[in-house]
Amino acid sequence: MSFFKDKVAIVTGAGSGIGKALAQGLAARGAKVVISDFNEDRIAQVEKEFLDKGWECVAFVLDVRDAQAVKDMVDATLEKHGRINLMFNNAGIAVGGEAKDCQLEDWRNVLDINLYGVVNGVAAVYPLMVEQGYGHIVNTASVEGLCPFPGTASYVASKYGVVGLSHSLRLEGAARGVKVSVVCPGYIKTAIFEDSKLVGLSRDELDKVRPPDWIGITPEQCAAIVLRGVEKNKATIVVTAFAKILATINRISPTVMQWMMTSSFKSALRKRAKQQLKQ
Ligand SMILES: NC(=O)c1ccc[n+]([C@@H]2O[C@H](COP(=O)([O-])OP(=O)(O)OC[C@H]3O[C@@H](n4cnc5c(N)ncnc54)[C@H](O)[C@@H]3O)[C@@H](O)[C@H]2O)c1
Repeated sequence: MSFFKDKVAIVTGAGSGIGKALAQGLAARGAKVVISDFNEDRIAQVEKEFLDKGWECVAFVLDVRDAQAVKDMVDATLEKHGRINLMFNNAGIAVGGEAKDCQLEDWRNVLDINLYGVVNGVAAVYPLMVEQGYGHIVNTASVEGLCPFPGTASYVASKYGVVGLSHSLRLEGAARGVKVSVVCPGYIKTAIFEDSKLVGLSRDELDKVRPPDWIGITPEQCAAIVLRGVEKNKATIVVTAFAKILATINRISPTVMQWMMTSSFKSALRKRAKQQLKQ
């Protein structure tokens, strides 16, 4: 029997990409899923797909920045099912471009959604899980929460925050029967790249510095790895071979990582300058 059979699982940002694939993986394994997203069309489409397959599913349209809305979803789930086994705080966005071109509003948006969105999920569900004496919180960070990356400083700041929060909460939770894991994916082929806001950078320029497709994996492959990690109660679930290599280099020698990242950033800037001269 599947580990996830009859587990009650909430997933935020389930309208697309990794969140949708996680919810799909959970539902296919027999979980009762509660899905949410702030994009009404996307989440309605996912709900329809799931119900058509005969899976148990309830959908909420909510913004993870709205702490009360997140709490209301958690409370409604508890009222319906009498328990919450799993909470995937997954919704996230990115802003691409150099820090010098980011407005305060960009920093705020990224931190509000990526970090405070997770905080809102934790604040709504953790005390309840402590009361239950069980539960598992799974927060989506990124390999950019384990290594420094130029060109996405606000994203990196938010994801380092999610990693620190999750690792610390895991220690507290261990004494209270609650498990906590953090997911750190490398390149997963989702809509996030097309949906991201860019500052001081055109879409064409981004495509030139984007990781090559062969490095990435599908959201479904990512979800399968995450669910295996959750089953094993891993503290940090690093997804993709390339992300594992980067995380290992940074752990062994942050100096080598800084040299690698600075060199590739300088080389990208040089290429860009040459191209601009040609135009
Ligand atoms: N795709 C990657 O390569 C990658 C790598 C590392 C980490 N991640 C992280 O994985 C998570 C999922 O990203 P994805 O790649 O599946 O992207 P995605 O764009 O395909 O999906 C993200 C979903 O979150 C929703 N969302 C955005 N802001 C929201 C908000 N304020 N409230 C509620 N929902 C909101 C979007 O509508 C979207 O449906 C994010 O936290 C992202 O940072 C992605």
